[in-house]
Amino acid sequence: MTTNKQVLLANRPNGWVQASDFRIVETPMPSPGPGQMLIKIHWLSLDPYMRGRMSTGKSYAKPVEIGDVMVGGTVGEVVDASDGTFKVGDFVVGSLGWQQYAVSNGEGLLRVDPKLVPPQAYLGVAGMPGATAWTGLLEYCQPRAGETVVVSAASGAVGGVVGQLAKMQGCRAVGIAGGKAKCDYAVQELGFDACVDYKAGRLYEDLKAACPDGIDCYFENVGGVVMDTVLRLLNPFSRMALCGLISDYNSIEPYGITNIRSILVNRVRIQGFIVSDRMDLYTRAIQQLAAWVSQGRIRYRESVAEGLDAAPEAFIGMLKGANLGKQLVRVS
Ligand SMILES: NC(=O)c1ccc[n+]([C@@H]2O[C@H](COP(=O)([O-])OP(=O)(O)OC[C@H]3O[C@@H](n4cnc5c(N)ncnc54)[C@H](OP(=O)(O)O)[C@@H]3O)[C@@H](O)[C@H]2O)c1
Repeated sequence: MTTNKQVLLANRPNGWVQASDFRIVETPMPSPGPGQMLIKIHWLSLDPYMRGRMSTGKSYAKPVEIGDVMVGGTVGEVVDASDGTFKVGDFVVGSLGWQQYAVSNGEGLLRVDPKLVPPQAYLGVAGMPGATAWTGLLEYCQPRAGETVVVSAASGAVGGVVGQLAKMQGCRAVGIAGGKAKCDYAVQELGFDACVDYKAGRLYEDLKAACPDGIDCYFENVGGVVMDTVLRLLNPFSRMALCGLISDYNSIEPYGITNIRSILVNRVRIQGFIVSDRMDLYTRAIQQLAAWVSQGRIRYRESVAEGLDAAPEAFIGMLKGANLGKQLVRVS
């Protein structure tokens, strides 16, 4: 190999992302300097937060500059190392972006064991999305046994773990997802007690039936009409972990929530959070989740796009719900 394929940000989208917002280039293979190593990227994670990094709107992180490599979580293998911390053959998780190779001094990289779980699981169930589920549910929703926990985008990378953790806490786990296949997966494979298809047109009625005792904890991944409907069913002193608002990420105008009164009369506690603010929980969460995955106690699925050329369309598809479980790109 003498070149490095990279996916660059070509345009800032206005509304829905287009494939033309990305540019795929071949650049010379980078070579590591003193104290650096060369990493061959095997897997790239595609995540909703990347939509935010394509825009300049106020956020918790800086946008990607036009012409820069798209930001993204990766699992790779050290193929050339002069530094003592990592050795050739080590598998490392980090944020090395949409490219085949990267040079790093090791900062922000975590060595992982590809024999405990498949390496790409460190981008999903035993990685950032898993830690997000853990942090939001256990730290902010704080569900108690017997309570009803609802999670939106329930079949996705974060939502699928939330439901399974809720079951481990002795709760009733109810998902909300788009379509029968995703709901069947949540119930039959992940062990949710029920799952409501928000695309079926009876969200309030179906959710009410699935939650006969109301909702005590809501793990919010989508916002919009789903959040507005959930607000109507919240119990007094319920908790909401506000993790994501994907239904708004490609909107020109955000959805206007109407059922605000429920927050007051039910004394609802809402906590917005970003997983990286809680690095104190991160390592423990992913170690525990990896162990549970290896024991078969936590289950997951992946949607895999083959090669970096397929990354833009896979990313757009994920934003529209084409994925089932964690969306990945097999880079090499
Ligand atoms: N706060 C944090 O630190 C943090 C960290 C990671 C992720 N997140 C957030 O968590 C959420 C889930 O992320 P993920 O990585 O697990 O993605 P994911 O659920 O695997 O994939 C995204 C899913 O969002 C759903 N969706 C898309 N548009 C929707 C709409 N208009 N209404 C309802 N659902 C819609 C789709 O599922 P359906 O087919 O079911 O609609 C799609 O499959 C995102 O909002 C993300 O930004 C936050």
